[in-house]
Amino acid sequence: MSSSAKKVDAYWMPFTANRDFKKRPRIISGASGHYYTSTDGTRLYDMFSGLWTSGLGHCHPKIVEAVQRQVATLDYCIGFQMSNDKAFELAERVVAMAPAGFSNCFFTNSGSESVDSALKIALAYHRAKGEGHRTRLIGREKGYHGVNFGGMSVGGMLANRKVFGANLIPGVDHMRHTLDLERNAFSRGLPAHGAELANDLERLAALHDGSNIAAVIVEPVVGSAGVIPPPVGYLEKLREICDRHDILLIFDEVITAFGRLGTGTAAERFGVTPDLITMAKGLTNGVIPMGAVLVRDHVYEAFMQGPEHAIELFHGYTYSGHPVAAAAGLATLNVYKEEGTFEQAAALEDTFADILHSFDSHKKVIDVRNFGLMGVIELAPRPGAPGARGLEIHKKCFWEEKVVVRNGMDLLQFSPFLNSTVDEMQQSFEAVRRVIDSVA
Ligand SMILES: Cc1ncc(COP(=O)(O)O)c(C=O)c1O
Repeated sequence: MSSSAKKVDAYWMPFTANRDFKKRPRIISGASGHYYTSTDGTRLYDMFSGLWTSGLGHCHPKIVEAVQRQVATLDYCIGFQMSNDKAFELAERVVAMAPAGFSNCFFTNSGSESVDSALKIALAYHRAKGEGHRTRLIGREKGYHGVNFGGMSVGGMLANRKVFGANLIPGVDHMRHTLDLERNAFSRGLPAHGAELANDLERLAALHDGSNIAAVIVEPVVGSAGVIPPPVGYLEKLREICDRHDILLIFDEVITAFGRLGTGTAAERFGVTPDLITMAKGLTNGVIPMGAVLVRDHVYEAFMQGPEHAIELFHGYTYSGHPVAAAAGLATLNVYKEEGTFEQAAALEDTFADILHSFDSHKKVIDVRNFGLMGVIELAPRPGAPGARGLEIHKKCFWEEKVVVRNGMDLLQFSPFLNSTVDEMQQSFEAVRRVIDSVA
């Protein structure tokens, strides 16, 4: 059966123009290494390594083997009041990878669940310390923290919020975003201007009183809204303001953890230590859904009081610490170590930046941004049709050049494999250039 003859009606696809897609579906049925295979047998080079998930490439044999072995050994185990061996092992390993001071790891099944768990932990932490009045949560414009109610409320991407009710969860405020094309367009790496925007947190603390704020959540490098690296000094300033007011700082590292910035975490890369870190994606190389919230000692310790038979946190998921996901996580962390993946990623950064910034002078391009192995080419929108040019490029890349490029409206986003070769990077971007040249 050819892909176009397949029945595609029943699946309501996420974040997709369903009617447009179903006219000519793009359906993948296999993958190996850096390539997908579509249902008609075409091989396509993946320029987004899954959805920022699969830095090691697809179907890595060691992860596949670990999953196969685990599913035949222990397929599932209740995670409340008892749990499985792999979950404990993985928690130790994740904590060991984090910056000093992180003592504990709570497991979830996705980035969205990690974010909502982190927000709930922040609220419960203050209450455990006798400061139950600290209920306000602060996010940032252009933030993406997943799609559950907490993450959506602290998030700052208009389209993800506007049709779901005006108030979302109450008691949330936002700092301004840091994207500034006038001052920072075509910056290579961290932009020079904008650290002062962290003072928005100080203003919010002055407005609500810092003593009423529970936590602030930011992506250290914004991902989904289009790769916006923090201005030089911005994260440091945010940390200082949080310290001044005893506000918990949450780094949403669903994208940035596990080598995307050449280090285990963005916290390590920037030398700024938050109180909580949310993770997902690279934790299992995308093979099995899994997320985590890492907390610093003082956060965990605040909960460890009262009678020992009492549950300290009334929160958790049926699949928290799932043994098959945990086995995938352990195998993934082993491969990162054995293959020196984070170092490989770090060594590719300059080449990636060179290739990306070779688009700076293209007449359809209004900005190019990069940090680590995260990059974006922002195209000028067609007058009256924002997003149309980006979607056309995505489709042409797929059909004509056999490369998978993610577009968010008119932003072409790139998340190369952490173990890419320079050759494949160069060739795939030449394909993208041909397509950008060819569209109106
Ligand atoms: C920073 C960030 N937080 C949260 C999420 C949500 O993760 P998930 O789609 O696994 O729920 C994402 C997803 O891309 C993300 O980039």
